[in-house]
Amino acid sequence: MDPTASAGFNVQQIREDFPLLSREVRPGVPLAYLDSAATSQKPTVVIDAMDRYYREMNANIHRGIHKLAEEATLAYENARERIADFIHAPSPEELIFTRNTTESINLVANSWGRAFLKAGDMILLSEMEHHSNLVPWQILATHLSLRLEFIPVTPQGLLDQDAFQDFLEQEPKLLALTHMSNVLGTINPLEDMLAKAKSAGAVTLVDGAQSVPHFPVDISTLQADFYAFSAHKMVGPTGIGILYGRRELLEEMPPFLGGGEMIKKVELRSFKSNDLPHKFEAGTPAIAEAIGFGAAVDYLSRISMAEVEKQERILTGYALERLSGIPNLHVLGPGIEEKGGVVSFYLDGIHAHDVAQILDSEGIAVRAGHHCAQPLHTKFNLPATSRASLYFYNTPEEIDRLVEGIYKAKSIFD
Ligand code: ALA
Repeated sequence: MDPTASAGFNVQQIREDFPLLSREVRPGVPLAYLDSAATSQKPTVVIDAMDRYYREMNANIHRGIHKLAEEATLAYENARERIADFIHAPSPEELIFTRNTTESINLVANSWGRAFLKAGDMILLSEMEHHSNLVPWQILATHLSLRLEFIPVTPQGLLDQDAFQDFLEQEPKLLALTHMSNVLGTINPLEDMLAKAKSAGAVTLVDGAQSVPHFPVDISTLQADFYAFSAHKMVGPTGIGILYGRRELLEEMPPFLGGGEMIKKVELRSFKSNDLPHKFEAGTPAIAEAIGFGAAVDYLSRISMAEVEKQERILTGYALERLSGIPNLHVLGPGIEEKGGVVSFYLDGIHAHDVAQILDSEGIAVRAGHHCAQPLHTKFNLPATSRASLYFYNTPEEIDRLVEGIYKAKSIFD
């Protein structure tokens, strides 16, 4: 019996929404796409929404008074409203369209960081951060002589809560953490951690690149000051992401990029910033992509994020059970209770890239390398891991194929 089977969820029907999932990688070799943490596949409704914009209403937004410009502006702003609803943000004006999670974090570092941090201030990060939540702070720390500290990761792949408490006593100005690790799959207990950081006087930022796509996220209960995520990991297009920011902070922050649209008035030597959210959206934005992002959250809402989470939990449990039976294979990170659908593993004596190559020859797409989290791999003394990352459109059969592929790699390299 299909272990993911549940009333109201038909994975075969869902898969028909995604044209690429029925592709053969090579003649006779069907695709098993297990790389959704890198980017997800796109359903027809998202592709069609973007296509429709270009075919039926292509015009620049917020500028023209003609019919097409009005329709395009409405579609763009309407997408922002639906994305705000999707994460229960207090208002759409607190959502800034960016290129991706990385740009969202760079926006906060360059705008809020440069304006409100000073030499000696402490930024608290963790050892499990993606490079996009490390490097922007390293650049800023060099520029402003800031102190960076890191919550250690335990051998089980969890954040060390005692060390976190100790750091809070040193009064960090900012806590910037991932909601879910893109390597360990760890879902961090952020409701509790953000509340503690707030009581200690820190501003909080969450890298939500791996969380918003995979389980319900409610900004209003989480109470993050900043929350960043990307469309392309949640069945939307590449090139567009969101920075949610608490209104009071966004209001007092200086603009990030200067140019058209982000101004109310410009003189030769000065300008007056536009209102939120336009103050942070200089230049012509990714209009088709924003519309595609709106279609993506509509699609996920129709399935329901609770169902997405449930399906992934069942699949992740199945993957962990099957992989645990393979000799000399080690899975990183915690058990199913604290883990999302990211399963990174290594095999004694076989390089992660060799495993990925054999899997590719069987049509199975996984990622191999340090997954943009080099310090975490260094911590675990691993040059690289192989990573299978799951989404609601995956099936137990694809996990069975992964296991068979790993046995093939073992037979070749052992
Ligand atoms: N951040 C993406 C990943 O982990 C690209 O694969």
